[in-house]
Amino acid sequence: MISQKLQDAINEQINREFFSEYLYLSMAAAFDDMNLEGFSNFMKVQAEEERFHMMKFYNYLIERGGRVILKGIPDPQSEFEGIIDIFEKSYGHEQFITKSINELMHLAVEEKDYALQSFLQWFIDEQVEEEASMDSILSKLKLVGEKGNALFFMDKELAARTFTAPAQ
Ligand SMILES: [Fe+2]
Ligand SMILES: [Fe+2]
Repeated sequence: MISQKLQDAINEQINREFFSEYLYLSMAAAFDDMNLEGFSNFMKVQAEEERFHMMKFYNYLIERGGRVILKGIPDPQSEFEGIIDIFEKSYGHEQFITKSINELMHLAVEEKDYALQSFLQWFIDEQVEEEASMDSILSKLKLVGEKGNALFFMDKELAARTFTAPAQ
């Protein structure tokens, strides 16, 4: 069994992963609107990853004898100032999620739930990658700007990203 406090916190995290999926899909739609199919593909794959995270928490909570409670998902932002703005917000969002996972870990330590601590370690490591991938695209964009040949090649490069579920 898992404590009520931790159950509530995991349900909250499920909601945040859902929101992440929604936010990245909203960003994909903004890129589709700009005819940047590669950037849109990157965000669609990102949204799939967030769904995978959500289901990982979902399955874990069930496995621990908990109850999954789904709540409403807030509206994601739909209007953006440009490509750099979208990646600044993505990077900022991942930093928010890292904080949220860290707080969950803090709670698991407080509650002496060692199994949850072990489970959360995967997300702690994953967040390092999540932040790094957004930051690296953001840095490149700041270098090349929002127009021109370089952007065209970035769009082509991002079109190649595919989703592969990590080994469990
Ligand atoms: Fe996530
Ligand atoms: Fe993420």
